[in-house]
Amino acid sequence: MANLDFIYKRKSIRKFKNQSIPKEDILTLLDAATHAPSPKNQQNWHFVVLQNRDIIKKLTEIVSESHIAIAEIARSETEKTHYMKLLKYYTLFQHAPVVIIVYANDYDMIEYDILKANGASEQRLAEIMAPQSAAQGIGAAVENFLLAATEMGYGACYMTGPTHAKNRIETLINFNKPGYHLMSLIALGVPEENTPPAPKRKPLEEVVTFID
Ligand SMILES: Cc1cc2nc3c(=O)[nH]c(=O)nc-3n(C[C@H](O)[C@H](O)[C@H](O)COP(=O)(O)O)c2cc1C
Repeated sequence: MANLDFIYKRKSIRKFKNQSIPKEDILTLLDAATHAPSPKNQQNWHFVVLQNRDIIKKLTEIVSESHIAIAEIARSETEKTHYMKLLKYYTLFQHAPVVIIVYANDYDMIEYDILKANGASEQRLAEIMAPQSAAQGIGAAVENFLLAATEMGYGACYMTGPTHAKNRIETLINFNKPGYHLMSLIALGVPEENTPPAPKRKPLEEVVTFID
């Protein structure tokens, strides 16, 4: 039997000890991330590493402000209350010693170019872009990172919640690589003791179909 403990050990960590992480370990994790598969091996990722407390604090403020602005225009008090409960999940990186901002550039899709040059409809073009290959490559890289972090005794959380403040975060970080835009964040640190277990998964019968 294959030993898949390294898969089952991983869970999202949202509380971290006040302990920094050696740069060498961060680089090991990022190297693991870059060994993920990517569409046509385009390796369309770039990782920006934040450790500066002032920048992480500012990032927290930006995400909180954007979150509150959305809550203010909620369609009811119930919706507003519900949305505000998510704020702690969107700003959990505030106490992490390391925050990684994951950028991607667009997947260079030859089919798209051919179809577009031949006057394909917007609907057809949208259809072939729908699988979002660039985002899938980022997901694979982040999962590699998370698994490696767990294996090395660290804890991490994959985050896209804060991306509602994407434009302001990009301005704050001021990372400029042509064509690259912000996709997600990773909070990384040494996990607090007794963090909650991963939530239960849907049974396989609900999510798997064999077609004979
Ligand atoms: C694309 C993506 C975005 C996520 N964004 C957030 C987030 O913004 N905040 C958060 O607390 N968790 C976030 N998560 C973590 C999920 O809530 C978590 O993976 C899920 O509840 C399953 O729990 P587990 O990771 O412990 O197995 C995200 C996960 C993924 C894959």
